[in-house]
Amino acid sequence: MIKTAIALAHPNIAFIKYWGDKDSDLRIPANGSISMNLDSLYSRTEVTFDSSFEKDELILDGQDPGEKAVKRVTRFLDHVRLMAGIPNFARVSSENNFPTGSGIASSASAFAALSLAASTAAGLELDEAALSRLARRGSGSACRSVPAGFVEWQAGQDDESSYAFSIGPRDHWELIDCIAIVSQEHKGIGSQDGHLLAETSLVQKIRVVDTPRRLDICRQAILNRDFEAFAEVVELDSNLMHAVMMTSQPQLYYWQPATLGVMQAVSEWRKSGTLVCFTIDAGPNVHVITLEESSPKVIADLLQIPGVSKVLVSRPGTRVRLVSE
Ligand code: DP6
Repeated sequence: MIKTAIALAHPNIAFIKYWGDKDSDLRIPANGSISMNLDSLYSRTEVTFDSSFEKDELILDGQDPGEKAVKRVTRFLDHVRLMAGIPNFARVSSENNFPTGSGIASSASAFAALSLAASTAAGLELDEAALSRLARRGSGSACRSVPAGFVEWQAGQDDESSYAFSIGPRDHWELIDCIAIVSQEHKGIGSQDGHLLAETSLVQKIRVVDTPRRLDICRQAILNRDFEAFAEVVELDSNLMHAVMMTSQPQLYYWQPATLGVMQAVSEWRKSGTLVCFTIDAGPNVHVITLEESSPKVIADLLQIPGVSKVLVSRPGTRVRLVSE
């Protein structure tokens, strides 16, 4: 019997970052993290299990994504097959409505959508924590795209204890992520390889030891809608992660000149009273976080910065869900 399911998931932007693993096989992170789902961006993934398929097949944005991506998905599907007790291969077709591999975490939304579509098509009914754990095996940050709105990933010690949960619904706070696009090219070193280098940086130990403190400040700032406290800890956390990246062996530089241009502009705007801050993932694009009322001016001003080609705008997004089409 053919079994198909389609799921939609949003990527998320981390305010407190995941960088480095305690167990890279299971993706048990070195530290906990906090994020917000991004409503205007999504991955839509369709999965079919069928006894007539002779191998797993993956189509990403209408194309064959290559051997490495297929291997990663097959490994993930092997786990789903084990959980469901089915032997069948699968056909997976996934589309993103945003550029893949440019520091907007496409693996997060892709594996969150794949987790729900594949587990459903395989006949499993997983609760949110179990779905988050499953997504984590595909891509760490994907576990945060499973619950809705504002989300915390508790690092945990093992598979059972490492999963994400919502700390506030999407309408809790009118934050807006204005992503200043400075490059749409596929990045050199993906986060999968980057995590393995974290331990080679002298800064990583200090960053990890201090993370519970930053998590507390960030969680509290979100719960109290305290933008000033939020802005300070979000920028500190992003800079700490990039300090680890830059001091790894080999060193990782994700920024481009325009990245720094945006960071400096955002600092100036905040000094002059605008509620705005930046955070950057493993890529050159800058997530500029502000509030609804300031967003039109922030977007217009971002577009004036040399090297910024466009701005993608997202509000807090909902949880992963099944769709019919
Ligand atoms: C910089 O979740 O993309 O975006 O598990 O290898 O897929 P994999 O890594 P991934 O790492 C995310 C790194 C980050 C920070 C974050 O989102 O917390």
